[in-house]
Amino acid sequence: MGETAKEAAGLAAVGLVEDGMRLGLGTGSTVTHFLHGLAGRGLDVAGVPTSEQTAGLCRELGIGLLDPGEAGRLDLAVDGADELDAELTCTKGGGGALLREKVVAAMAERFVVIATADKVVERLADTFPLPVEVVPFAVGPVSAQLSELGFEVVERRGQDGAYRTDNGNAVLDCRHPGGLEDPAITDVHVGLIPGVCGTGLFVDMAELALLGHDDGRVDRVRPRSAAD
Ligand code: 5RP
Repeated sequence: MGETAKEAAGLAAVGLVEDGMRLGLGTGSTVTHFLHGLAGRGLDVAGVPTSEQTAGLCRELGIGLLDPGEAGRLDLAVDGADELDAELTCTKGGGGALLREKVVAAMAERFVVIATADKVVERLADTFPLPVEVVPFAVGPVSAQLSELGFEVVERRGQDGAYRTDNGNAVLDCRHPGGLEDPAITDVHVGLIPGVCGTGLFVDMAELALLGHDDGRVDRVRPRSAAD
């Protein structure tokens, strides 16, 4: 799916924002549409950015920035996803911002995912690998332990060698053939490996997904268990 679908999802999320809100501002190409739409509404809002990239775009667009240490509870966080399942459990971090994205999502009363509808999968991490942020010192031992858990592990590379996040860490992209049976358990197991700073698994965080289509339609999807 293309830019029209991303833009539709991003602009749908702008409709959730009210004057005076404190926001969590995600990272990625879908969020870029959200930020442009938000700036166009001229509301009195400000947000905690999840990456240097998003902070830079907000400065260009005139969207106020908040420090995470001073922002307090956020009203709404909006972010993209690499994959999501029927429970709206997401994998995130394709753009490398997974750790700050998770911190910011956890600061918010409401976390809303914006994505193209083709990102919904039956099982996570079979097609798009799960990003795991790791301190550089621990890349070797963490890779070995992730392999023991059944992952195919590839260290992300940057243009000039090893990729580094905004936090100065490495990212391991971890595919699980057949997908994750229980993402919540995987998140705990992987998170407990010494040297892991965080996984790109967002479990029980999203309350709504806005899923764009190429014809401009947007599906509003709640977690399957919430809809029952
Ligand atoms: C960045 C992310 C993004 O939200 C995710 O990669 C989706 O990006 P896009 O909207 O460009 O497809 O997690 O770390």
